[in-house]
Parts: sequence; structure tokens; C-alpha cells
Amino acid sequence: MNITRNVLMRTKPMQGAHQESNLHRCLSGFDLTLFGIGAIIGAGIFVLTGIAAATQAGPAIMFSYALAGVACAFSALCYAELAASIGGCGSAYHYAYVGLGEFIAWIIGWQLILEYSLATSTVAIGWAGYVRDLLSAIGINVPNNLMHGPFNGGIVDLPAVLIIAFITFLMCLGVRKSAWFNTIIVGVKLAAILLFSVIATMHFDIKNWHPFLPFGFQGIINGAALIFFAYIGFDAVSTAAEETINPQRNMPIGILASLAICTVIYIIVSGLLTGVASYTTLNVSSPISNILLALGMHVASAIIAVGAIAGLTTVILVMFYGLTRVLLAMSRDCLLPNQLSVISEKRSSPIKLILAVGFIMMIIAGFAPIHSLAALVNIGTLSAFALVCLGVIILRKTKPELPRPFKVPATPLVPACGILLCLYLMFSLSGFTWVCFLIWMMVGLCWYFIYGQKHSRLNND
Ligand code: ALA
Repeated sequence: MNITRNVLMRTKPMQGAHQESNLHRCLSGFDLTLFGIGAIIGAGIFVLTGIAAATQAGPAIMFSYALAGVACAFSALCYAELAASIGGCGSAYHYAYVGLGEFIAWIIGWQLILEYSLATSTVAIGWAGYVRDLLSAIGINVPNNLMHGPFNGGIVDLPAVLIIAFITFLMCLGVRKSAWFNTIIVGVKLAAILLFSVIATMHFDIKNWHPFLPFGFQGIINGAALIFFAYIGFDAVSTAAEETINPQRNMPIGILASLAICTVIYIIVSGLLTGVASYTTLNVSSPISNILLALGMHVASAIIAVGAIAGLTTVILVMFYGLTRVLLAMSRDCLLPNQLSVISEKRSSPIKLILAVGFIMMIIAGFAPIHSLAALVNIGTLSAFALVCLGVIILRKTKPELPRPFKVPATPLVPACGILLCLYLMFSLSGFTWVCFLIWMMVGLCWYFIYGQKHSRLNND
């Protein structure tokens, strides 16, 4: 394989926007929007909506979706400004590297690794659960040992390993092919959601919306904290900046359009779901297909199950993609082993890095009891969002001359609202989640002081 070393082409921080890279620029604003939808719509809407409606918000779950959507919009606007003005495949890590220094950048990068790696592996395990149900529904029985990891009474969660192996293979083919696959699968999941919406509209009964606020206004807020997970993913769009045509224009389009489209879809679907059945019956892991089964629509229910599997597949794809790009940026700066930043000339992709990440993700998804750590995805994401909002405020002061093709309106009010909302949601997470998060951050600090600082490109330049 013809390989070239991608070390010296990176510029030092502070030089400004959109450095050239030897990744291939081939993604349009439309591709990015579909990337965003691919990353956002997944387990959140297909699984959490029912649980959040039944236990937290009742039919007012649609307001929880609207509230979480607004909270994410503050951060999305900040991502859009920094992605358009600074760019780089490292997303928030790179923005911090340019404007806030290496140490803060390392902290944000370490949080992004937590977000993307746990999202990839936990969603792969959820994907395996759906596939298990589908296989048994069509009468294919695979030995239990091969369907569950060692902590769940089996040997290996083979479907979870296989889906990561497939995504790893796809990523090795290059970003154009991955985007093409993403477009098809996003089409499948949107078609499944459309089918549900049409059927649900025909069976909608306003009586199911009474009582509308069974858990009061606090229920709307608690519901928003729970379904925040459903919005995670729009930030992964920003990791594609070096592979985007005209990123100054297309990055804000991809980030903001995908979030807006998904917010509208979430509000409609959650409103319809609670209008077709009483919210009290929705505390199940697959509420949408369950409702269709209850209506006697077996074929439609199977189609929704396929749509959910498609949804989860693209979440894994885009989160995996984001993980490899953030790691690429960190290894270019020598905070992680620099050999990982080698780009294959043939595929314009960091093949070595993709294979290493794929291998580790397969081990985690197949064998580790990782599902109990899923809430860590939320805390990792929220902390990164808060720092991105802070970054916008600081960079407006310290680098006023930076070209900003897209600007967050009403700064510093909007970024400040973003920070407050993220902190509020972070403090609604459990003590266990916080302890795990702090342990993760301690490990990251140890790595930085033992390895990163010594090898860092900045220090050695
Ligand atoms: N937003 C993604 C999902 O709901 C993580 O699966």
C-alpha cells in the first residue's frame, strides 16, 4: 500500500482557519446533513421515547424533545461558528488547540474519545439486541453463547463484533463510500419513520393526551435530561471539516440542518406515539414496533424494526468516523503515538488508525459489560459542548481578527445559555456517572503528563 506520512503538513496552532490536509475533500453540505441525521436518529427515538414518556413526562414528552433540541441548538450554533472558522478534523479538540492551548485541548479531546467510543460500543450492543430479536422472530436460533457477552451469560456478543467489523471495513474503503452507504441507510430509517407517522396519524386518539402533564413541568425537564441522548451526534459532523468541500459554508449547513430536521422529526414522532397509545403502556424497549404489533400490523412492525436497525447502524458509522478523526488530530499533534496519523494515499484515510480503533471497539462491544456505562456518553458530550460554548466567548475576545463565515448571534448570551444548560443537565446525572467520569479524566491527565507532554509537537518544536 502506498503510504505517506502525515506529520509535517499540520501547522502550528494560532495560524487560523482551515489548514490543508491530505484527506480527500469530497463531502457536500447535503452529505454532511445526512451524516448528522445518520448520527442523531438512533436508539434515542426508537427506544428512549417510550421509557421517557411512561416514566418522566407523559404526552408532554414532545416538549421535552423541544427543550432538549433548544439546549442542543445553543451548542450547535457554537460548533457551527468554530467549525466554519477553524475547521480541522479534531472538532472541539482542534478548536481548543488553536485558541485555548494544548492542555485544555487534551482535556476536550479526552472527553470526545469517551463520547465517541462509548457511543460506538453501546449502540453496537443495542444493535445486536435488535438483530437477536429479529432473528428469533423469523425462527433463526443462534446459540445463546454467541449472542451475549461473558457478563450476560454468554461467551461473546457476536452480532456486536460483526457490525463493528463491517463498519471498520467500510471506513477503510474511504469516506466517499462511507457517505454513500450512510445516505442509503438514512433513507431506510427515514422511510420507516414516515411509515410509522402515516399509520399513527390514522390511529391518533386525542383522549390519549389526557392527562397531558401527568408528572408536571418538572417531568418535562427530567424527560429532556433523559432523551438528551437522542440528540447526540450532530457534533460528529464537525469532525468531517477536512473532508468537506467549502467547509466555511457547508459545515454550518450540515450541523444546523441535521439538528433542525431531527428536532422536528422527534417532536412529531413523540407526539404521535403518545397519541396512539396511553403513555402508561410505553415503558418497553421497542415502543414504536410494539404499538404497531398491538394494532395488529405485523409487517409494518417488522419494517420499523428494520428501520431501527438501520438507524443504529448509521449512528455506529458516524460515531466511529468521529472517533477516528479526533484520534487522528491528537496523534498528529503527538499527544498520542504519531504513527497513527499515517494516511493511506490510495484511500485518503488513516487506515492504520481505523484498524486499531476497530479492533479495540470489537473487543469492548463483544466482551465488556459496557452498557452500564452508557450514561457516560451524555456526560462526556455535555462537558465537551460546554467547553465549545466557552471557546466561542474566549476566541471572540482573544482572536477577534479570525475570519468567521458564520457567527453565533447574540454572543456572549447564546454561548452562555449553552454553558448553563449543559451544566444543568450534567448535574442531573447520577453520582455513579460522575465518579466514572472523574476516573476517566484522571486516567487522561496521567497519560498527558506521562506521555503527551513529553512527546507533544508543540514542546518539541
Ligand atoms: N443520538 C444517537 C442515538 O439516539 C446517539 O442513538
